[in-house]
Amino acid sequence: MKNAAIAHRSAILHSLGDPHTSGVENSYEYFEDGLLIIEQGIITHLGDASELLHRFPNIEVLQHHNKLIVPGFIDTHIHYPQTGVIASYGEQLLDWLENYTFPAEAAFSDEKHCDASAEFFLDELLKNGTTTALVFGTVHKSSVEAFFQAADKRHLRMIAGKVMMDRNAPENLTDTAHSSYVDSKELIQKYHGKNRLHYAVTPRFAPTSTPEQLQLAGKLLSEFDDLYLHTHLSENKKEIDWVAQLFPERKNYLDVYDHYDLLTPRSVFAHAIHLDDDECQRLAACQSSVAFCPTSNTFLGSGLFNLSKMQRHKVQVALGTDIGGGTSFSMLQTMQEAYKVCQLSGHQINPFKAFYLATLAGAQALKLTDKIGDLKVGTEADFVVLDLAATPLINYRMQRARSIEEQLFVLMILGDDRAIAETYSFGECVYQSNS
Ligand code: GUN
Ligand code: ZN
Repeated sequence: MKNAAIAHRSAILHSLGDPHTSGVENSYEYFEDGLLIIEQGIITHLGDASELLHRFPNIEVLQHHNKLIVPGFIDTHIHYPQTGVIASYGEQLLDWLENYTFPAEAAFSDEKHCDASAEFFLDELLKNGTTTALVFGTVHKSSVEAFFQAADKRHLRMIAGKVMMDRNAPENLTDTAHSSYVDSKELIQKYHGKNRLHYAVTPRFAPTSTPEQLQLAGKLLSEFDDLYLHTHLSENKKEIDWVAQLFPERKNYLDVYDHYDLLTPRSVFAHAIHLDDDECQRLAACQSSVAFCPTSNTFLGSGLFNLSKMQRHKVQVALGTDIGGGTSFSMLQTMQEAYKVCQLSGHQINPFKAFYLATLAGAQALKLTDKIGDLKVGTEADFVVLDLAATPLINYRMQRARSIEEQLFVLMILGDDRAIAETYSFGECVYQSNS
């Protein structure tokens, strides 16, 4: 790591809060000609280039022409072992799991496959500007070891966990309540809090865990500080009916998790499409978060996430790609799909809101705002250099954009991995496009 300070000069944008609560005008900070100064991986200054260069005339400056620097994207729900099932035809959730996903996950009993998949997955994340993700492994402990080791080698801030799954799945993919507890505990002791790594207790979803396993998941959360809880919730109608059959004594889907003490401020529930008011209120009361995964929800035909309802109930929402149910690693594409999903429900996501969901909201959901999610002084220098002329069409359209708001909208509608010029993690360049 470089010891001397380095300055990045570019247009720079970051979120200051949720546009829905603070008002759009107060929700961001934008420097048309900005300077971001970094020392030993930490942001030391952010401001107008002219003013900061006057104060630090001898600083080394990296100039980014026709670019926009934003915080690294945060993907709050993704499965690294499902990279190989992205774009699998024809099924909705439960058949998709059985026909595509479980066979692909079974291959992670092989450690070499885990290592190679983890490296490819991280390459894809970084090439899409995603610097932090909340990641599902498989039921195999070694899948998570491989992922953490690959992430640690690259000094990334990542959260992951071993799937806990002791029923209603193929035999070669099930653990037991006891073994899942022991394996998870060993992973926690080895990796949770190591460098930039964190552990998430990861029961797959209510139908694939016995009550005993869910109870042990809750026990793990009570035994260590700052663990995450990561699972799926209320994604698909058949899934919801199945949960009601399996847990008839619980009043709704969320109540299954609630009963086993799995609702904490560090709990992230993926999808949460078909929730009733009672479930929304409970999520808000527990300060738990939901991951809105729009490309997955449309691809698997799961339904339209109700962002307005979540806002009304003050539930923390962030964005997830849900690879391989989702169809793109790109958080720009995910913002585009979120916009379309909300259009179908009759309202528009402002580009600053979409951008907030992909950055600061992720850090809020993960309780990491002191470290990532914006470009405030004192936080870690995880950021992306977006190319405002990434393709001929983006360039053509961008020349007609009259404001940063419009530029942002063009990027989220037309952009994908081609719009990522460079990705930085802890001040170091970890991806650079060839063009
Ligand atoms: N519910 C349970 N497992 C999964 C999964 O792997 N993907 C999605 N989208 N939903 C799930
Ligand atoms: Zn998922």
